[in-house]
Amino acid sequence: MSSKEKDELINFIEKVAGDKYQKIEEDLGNGFVRLHISEAQKRQAKHDIRSVEDVIVELLRNSRDADCRNIFIALHKEKKDRTVAIIDDGHGIPSSVLTKIFEPRVTSKLDSVVNDKYGVHGRGMALYAIKNNVEYVDVVASAVDRGTIVKVYINTMKLPERKDQSTLPATRVRHGEVHVIKGLHNILRVLAEFSIEHPKIKIFVGSPAQILVTMYDLSQNLLTSNKGGKTVFLDGFEEGSLPLWQCVGSIGNVKSLMEVSNDYYGLDVSQRNIHRIFSGEIEPVDDLYTTLLKKHKEVVAKPIFNVDFNNSSNLVKYIEKKDLDKLSQLVEDEFGKIGDKYFLHLKGSPKISRGKNQIKILLEVEGEE
Ligand SMILES: Nc1ncnc2c1ncn2[C@@H]1O[C@H](COP(=O)(O)OP(=O)(O)OP(=O)(O)O)[C@@H](O)[C@H]1O
Ligand SMILES: [Mg+2]
Repeated sequence: MSSKEKDELINFIEKVAGDKYQKIEEDLGNGFVRLHISEAQKRQAKHDIRSVEDVIVELLRNSRDADCRNIFIALHKEKKDRTVAIIDDGHGIPSSVLTKIFEPRVTSKLDSVVNDKYGVHGRGMALYAIKNNVEYVDVVASAVDRGTIVKVYINTMKLPERKDQSTLPATRVRHGEVHVIKGLHNILRVLAEFSIEHPKIKIFVGSPAQILVTMYDLSQNLLTSNKGGKTVFLDGFEEGSLPLWQCVGSIGNVKSLMEVSNDYYGLDVSQRNIHRIFSGEIEPVDDLYTTLLKKHKEVVAKPIFNVDFNNSSNLVKYIEKKDLDKLSQLVEDEFGKIGDKYFLHLKGSPKISRGKNQIKILLEVEGEE
């Protein structure tokens, strides 16, 4: 067929099939297609991802487009290596296209191009662009209508991120709603803005251990019969109908939790931290919107009666635990900023104890390998 004849045939098919034909190169089934795209657009893709924060935005948009209600984001950094695990309870990815979604132009959004504040999307290029810029990215698990877990390893020497990743953006509350007013464009800011813009989606962010305990705690509240082992978990995770993240609530022992956290959720949690989860030392995190709102709750000082300030030798016993916890959090946040400079981080949260007219703060520090 000559090229003229080919053009004529294409024109004819376009007339009959409408503009959908123009857009599709291959129908992959299950609502997935491979789009036609110009070489220039393909080349542009690599440049769309310029920072770790950009990776996070694209992963959030994918979870949102999958109509999820909860997103759990586990962040970890060791020297220059950033690890991100993102767990959602959206509509999942059919297994037949799992390997294809990292290829360019593969999308399920042909008819639902989404226009949000980050721009138009639905080009099937984000995961491809991410893959081109990071050391590793893959789907850890996905099940239709039960959610998706994606894990990414990034070398921040190649794909940079903001240096300070521990500071929340400055916000203000107006008519009960939170607004970001300023702050570094770090991961927390990206997440804060996203959660403000999508009030129906709860975003939980923390270390892998904090995310594990948060999912565990929330799903324990939902489940009536838990306390199983790995076999019970596997039955639910592989065959059940609950969102993938809620399956963790069926586990009742340290060993099984340790085994499944890494293999099934992509959360690297040490044995020591699993023990700390069971002993209540690592606490669940609030969703980010709640955290931002709480920041603004006025601290009302309670009057203390019957205290003789001149004679008392144990003044600090009147300080409430929640205020000491707050102090611990502040010290932890501040140390985060200093520690980064020296490649040091804290082994757990600062331990605060009361002495005789003393508050002792113990920071256990470890180096990054
Ligand atoms: N968390 C997720 N849940 C469900 N499906 C997902 C998820 N992440 C990716 N997908 C599927 O993989 C496809 C490819 O994702 P990718 O981000 O590369 O492209 P896109 O979202 O279609 O378009 P864009 O390039 O504009 O982001 C999506 O169309 C979607 O079907
Ligand atoms: Mg996308």
